[in-house]
Amino acid sequence: MTTADRKPRAFSGIQPTSDSFHLGNYLGALRQWVPIQDTADAFYCVVDLHAITVDHEPKVLHERSRVSAAQLLALGLDPEKCSLFVQSQVPEHPMLAWILGCETGFGEAGRMTQFKDKSAKQERTTVGLFTYPVLQAADILLYQTEQVPVGEDQRQHLELSRDLAVRFNTTYGSTFKVPEARIVKETATIKDLSEPEKKMSKSSPSPRGCVYLLDEPGQIRKKIKSAVTDSEAEVRYDVERKPGVSNLLNIYAALGDTTVAKLEAEYAGKGYGDFKGDLAEVVVEAIGPITRRTKEYLADRAELDRILAQGAERARQVASRTLAKAYKKVGFFPPAAL
Ligand code: AMP
Ligand code: TRP
Repeated sequence: MTTADRKPRAFSGIQPTSDSFHLGNYLGALRQWVPIQDTADAFYCVVDLHAITVDHEPKVLHERSRVSAAQLLALGLDPEKCSLFVQSQVPEHPMLAWILGCETGFGEAGRMTQFKDKSAKQERTTVGLFTYPVLQAADILLYQTEQVPVGEDQRQHLELSRDLAVRFNTTYGSTFKVPEARIVKETATIKDLSEPEKKMSKSSPSPRGCVYLLDEPGQIRKKIKSAVTDSEAEVRYDVERKPGVSNLLNIYAALGDTTVAKLEAEYAGKGYGDFKGDLAEVVVEAIGPITRRTKEYLADRAELDRILAQGAERARQVASRTLAKAYKKVGFFPPAAL
């Protein structure tokens, strides 16, 4: 293969911290993972090491890692086209994280807004939560990654990964590719349906604010129909004045494969009832098959574990090479084969 036809490398990860991914995860990040399998050499990771930075229940975590992998396959990842694996099966991740942690300034890590937000919500904050973005940088840099498809809330973590790559390369000589975030503008931040000023998140205080990929059609319809809008009756995009309707328009355009402008024209003169009713069907249609296929993948655990083991093996081939390089550069002995 010549350099010209070598595919770029892509990497992304998601935490197994809930029983189901939500529409924000899907539209902000996961949906982009699917076409990237064709254009890049893609590695996708269920980041269970990151998941223990907050309180967790071991059995629940283990099960959620499997359910997460099943959902990723269900939404279109193909194990013949990409490498899908669970982070704890690739020990090179925490090994590189140690080195990168020794390159990260204390103040630099303290400026991460996700750390500030998450630690404010926790009763006890751990060192693991503080160094979370360093482990994320290790995830990315181990694969000589060029593209990282994520939602807007990961931009700052990506900047840190880039800074660490450049810093290490400057100090020790060229070792890591400098990665770039791939963020789709229109769906970079999907908002909560009940509180459209906030991003959709599993920790939404309102049970109706967040649509999960594994929600039943009835639940989805209820959530969409009770989404907060405004006192006008005009389907118009205006993030400042009409954050609720604008969010619904973004969701509709993305899932319905259309544009906000076309939707505004289509619903001119119609009320929110029609708009929400149609949107509910679009959402049900888009995520219904994901629910069905997730159940199918979960029905054959042995096959699911085989796919993950195969992904981990491919991941280790790449990760171990980068780790050996970094070990040598900092003056370590070569890592023992594991
Ligand atoms: P997390 O659930 O925090 O592990 O997020 C997994 C992926 O989903 C990351 O790439 C996030 O940037 C993305 N994401 C999470 N919430 C949203 C949201 N409300 N809108 C868009 N992207 C999101
Ligand atoms: N921090 C990311 C999130 O919460 C998850 C993640 C961990 C990740 N490692 C990564 C994303 C590497 C992209 C690349 O969404």
